[in-house]
Amino acid sequence: MSVEEAAQAAAVSVRNEPGEPLLEVEDLRVRFTGRGRRVNAVNGLSYRLAAGRTLAVIGESGSGKSVSSRALMGLLPPTAKVSGSARFGGMELVGRSDRQMRRIRGADIAMVFQDPARSLNPTMRIGAQITEAVRAHRKVDRKAAHDRAVELLQLVRLPAPERRFHEYPHQLSGGMRQRVMIAIALAGEPKLLIADEATTALDVTTQAQIMELLAELQERLGTAIVLISHDLGLAASYADDVVVMYAGRAVEYAPASKLFARVRMPYTEALLGAIPRLEREPHAELPVTPGQPPDLTRLPPGCPFAPRCSRATDECHTKLPPFAEHEPAHWWACWHPCEETA
Ligand SMILES: Nc1ncnc2c1ncn2[C@@H]1O[C@H](COP(=O)(O)OP(=O)(O)O)[C@@H](O)[C@H]1O
Ligand code: SF4
Ligand SMILES: [Mg+2]
Repeated sequence: MSVEEAAQAAAVSVRNEPGEPLLEVEDLRVRFTGRGRRVNAVNGLSYRLAAGRTLAVIGESGSGKSVSSRALMGLLPPTAKVSGSARFGGMELVGRSDRQMRRIRGADIAMVFQDPARSLNPTMRIGAQITEAVRAHRKVDRKAAHDRAVELLQLVRLPAPERRFHEYPHQLSGGMRQRVMIAIALAGEPKLLIADEATTALDVTTQAQIMELLAELQERLGTAIVLISHDLGLAASYADDVVVMYAGRAVEYAPASKLFARVRMPYTEALLGAIPRLEREPHAELPVTPGQPPDLTRLPPGCPFAPRCSRATDECHTKLPPFAEHEPAHWWACWHPCEETA
């Protein structure tokens, strides 16, 4: 490592004092420009996540869940302009160079996506891919990297890891491939794991197994998890805290127990109430009230949910409700919050 690289590594090293949030996102915004269009994909997202906890980010398709988490990882195309703040272990992520973000990615923050088939290299054996991930983060010889790779496959409970080690991704089931992706993500011992619809493509049983695995790994390794999903049931079962997004904004945020006991935001209520949770198909799109989410190229001046909201008044159409902590640990953005859970 050169002196310059060592200095860079030191500059991006993460501290996490006890009691301090590991991740603090404040008024995060992402705008895409190009071809005469401007897409306001993320329009003020705020949340906090402490070490070892799980935060679910919930919202309909297109609400900015993936874009906001890719912004944290520095994984957006050059057409994206990111503003606001995202502090990770006290370090500002917004505005970091690609080179610094590459260092943080994998080592401190790792991501698992919905489609492991596309994230894995189809022409490379599983074992080689994990070994490569191990060596990208640790200065170890081939033998030690191999042993660590097998250990990681055991950690994610891949059946017959020694044999699977020599197989190609297409020889594995979807659930097994997702386990391999989690093993790769854990190779750098990240403090934060972002799982973006990581179990969405799996059948219900496999989905539950993967979620149990993540919960167990979290317990053992103390990893904080951002669980991105369009499935409120998943959030209710596995998250400590929940942030609900609409049109790129946080609209409700609270500890899961508090949120599900007393929903305040009409949009969250619509998500919860449309179909009883237990009767819903496991991978069904979020049930919502009729109507479309707003056009992100022309956001309305008032509450973006107003055209679909049964509680909307004139005020809602002209004034944007602030996202604020109206009750201890319970944040929402609404002029006329629900009084009781339906
Ligand atoms: N590279 C891009 N260029 C322009 N718009 C984009 C790009 N990536 C995503 N978007 C837009 O940003 C919005 C939020 O997308 P996304 O975060 O993927 O939603 P979600 O993950 O909640 O389904 C969508 O309207 C999407 O079309
Ligand atoms: S601010 Fe008005 S339109 Fe928006 S969610 Fe609340 S009641 Fe509905
Ligand atoms: Mg997404």
